[in-house]
Amino acid sequence: MKNLEDSGYSQNDYHHFIKEVKKKTGIDLALYKEAQMKRRLMSFYEKRGFTSFQDFFQNGLNKDEDILAEFLERMTINVSEFYRNPKRWDVLSEQIIPRLKQNSNHLKIWSAACSTGEEPYTLSMILMEKFGENRHTILATDIDEVILKRARSGLYSDRALKELSSEVINRYFIREDPGYRVRDKVKNTVTYRKHNLLADTYDTGFDLIICRNVLIYFTEEAKQEIYLKFNRALKVGGILFVGSTEQIFNPARYGFEAEDTFFYKKVNNL
Ligand SMILES: C[S@@+](CC[C@H](N)C(=O)[O-])C[C@H]1O[C@@H](n2cnc3c(N)ncnc32)[C@H](O)[C@@H]1O
Repeated sequence: MKNLEDSGYSQNDYHHFIKEVKKKTGIDLALYKEAQMKRRLMSFYEKRGFTSFQDFFQNGLNKDEDILAEFLERMTINVSEFYRNPKRWDVLSEQIIPRLKQNSNHLKIWSAACSTGEEPYTLSMILMEKFGENRHTILATDIDEVILKRARSGLYSDRALKELSSEVINRYFIREDPGYRVRDKVKNTVTYRKHNLLADTYDTGFDLIICRNVLIYFTEEAKQEIYLKFNRALKVGGILFVGSTEQIFNPARYGFEAEDTFFYKKVNNL
């Protein structure tokens, strides 16, 4: 039986764990909301039979690549679906994209924290469906490499496609029991890359950044830093599209103005 008191972990078990994880993976858990992250990770390690964050790090993450991969998957929820919150996508395709296309006939788009790929593929299908072309570049990134592999494979269950009409499914997917695979004409428009929003540098010159349902996990300070980085990554007039619980409280502070609910237009360089 380990003596947790002697190790100095009992009081600061989680904070010590944060330091070790940062050293090992470069991921700074201190930038994620603490209570939420602690709960998620504790329920994960308890199921795996670990008794503390120290035990979890030393005998789990530090020793076993599979546990490390699963840890990344469990840090946040990965759930996504095609055309998630349809009304928002309608605003995007009917209002936002036509305006963006007035200034640029080759849109440069970033789907940040894309999880298993439903979001960038939805976007690609909208561009093909409504604008009949694929003159666009979509970069799709996530911190989790295992998830990116699934995104690249483009294989989905029926449930992920529940918002799509059968016409769209027929045009852009191939039935592969027990689910569907995205056709190559969609897949080929998306480039996947590993990227940590809290640590890596951001590309620039984007017309549109879609970043939904990940900022909710971050601390206020981390979020503010990310808004500034998104400002610098966008062209003036470019749009940041956020998740349905992620309105920006004071967009002007980050050089944005609301163009519609959940859509922020970059109005000036910072
Ligand atoms: C709930 S999913 C969002 C998926 C998609 N954007 C949507 O709204 O349907 C959250 C994703 O954020 C990713 N993530 C968590 N921390 C991240 C970070 N620091 N940088 C980039 N991605 C991160 C997770 O791996 C996960 O795939």
